[in-house]
Amino acid sequence: MTERDQIQELSFEIKKLKQEHKAIILSHVYQRPEVQDVADFVGDSLGLSQQAAGTDAGVIVFCGVHFMAESAAILSPDKIVLLPEENAGCPMADMITEIDLSRKKEEVPDATVVCYVNTSAAVKAESDIACTSANAVKVVASVPPERPVIFVPDKNLGHYIMKKTGREMIVWDGYCHTHHRLMAEDVLKAREKHPGALVLVHPECRPEVVDLADEVSSTTGMIRFARENRAKEFIIGTEAGILYPLRRQCPEKRFYLASEKMICPNMKATTLEKVYRALVNLAPRITVPPEIRERAVRSLERMLAVSR
Ligand code: 13P
Ligand code: SF4
Repeated sequence: MTERDQIQELSFEIKKLKQEHKAIILSHVYQRPEVQDVADFVGDSLGLSQQAAGTDAGVIVFCGVHFMAESAAILSPDKIVLLPEENAGCPMADMITEIDLSRKKEEVPDATVVCYVNTSAAVKAESDIACTSANAVKVVASVPPERPVIFVPDKNLGHYIMKKTGREMIVWDGYCHTHHRLMAEDVLKAREKHPGALVLVHPECRPEVVDLADEVSSTTGMIRFARENRAKEFIIGTEAGILYPLRRQCPEKRFYLASEKMICPNMKATTLEKVYRALVNLAPRITVPPEIRERAVRSLERMLAVSR
């Protein structure tokens, strides 16, 4: 059987099981193309949280990484939330624990804690409000100006927010390996090779990379920008998976990855076979202990209210 036939067969079985279990499949844009193709919704972290909060499906199959499925379990505690590859984590989310954060809060007791959604449920429970890359500037701007802000864990996103809002924050020293790997020289080289192209980068990139960009936005924001902008060529500074929706939605345009190194192994760990097995076994399930969930949900709900 060819790989194409296998994909077709598995996709067919997944669709059948999905109907049987009244399940919804959510996929991040960094997922493998064949996984994105079986999803009911493909989007960025914000869009995926909104879908998880609003769905009436009984089962959510989350094709992404652990913190995303955990956010779905926090927002929809009565649903079964499946993460087809349970070891798909986010190294940046692991760069801060709830103990680290509570120590930091003791140092600045009057601070408002804004946590990037790329954090554990326990860190969200210790935070006042969550944010994603799509609404981070808006979320920080919603904090009263006289309050100090502790921002965790992404130093690059933190730096970008400070630049956009002109507001100082106490920023944790975390970062995403995949985005931090992109260097200013990579962008300059790509620009030399494609002089007519616009540079679109994610705010998880280093400040010197962000400074070279024509547009800085979340993954969904990048797709919207490429669709609406008249330019025909774009250099893309985020994880490689985004090329699939970009090329599908803008077939007449050209997209070049700013660096071939921009692959997140955790995002690629979910395969169609694992999605199929998750639906057959209704496992691996992601759950959040009620005492953590009750506090974490406030951070996510405040974020969703700011994003409306
Ligand atoms: P967005 O989905 O907010 O664009 O963030 C990208 C990311 O790195 C998710 O892990
Ligand atoms: Fe985490 Fe970066 Fe992978 Fe996103 S791309 S899941 S932030 S390691």
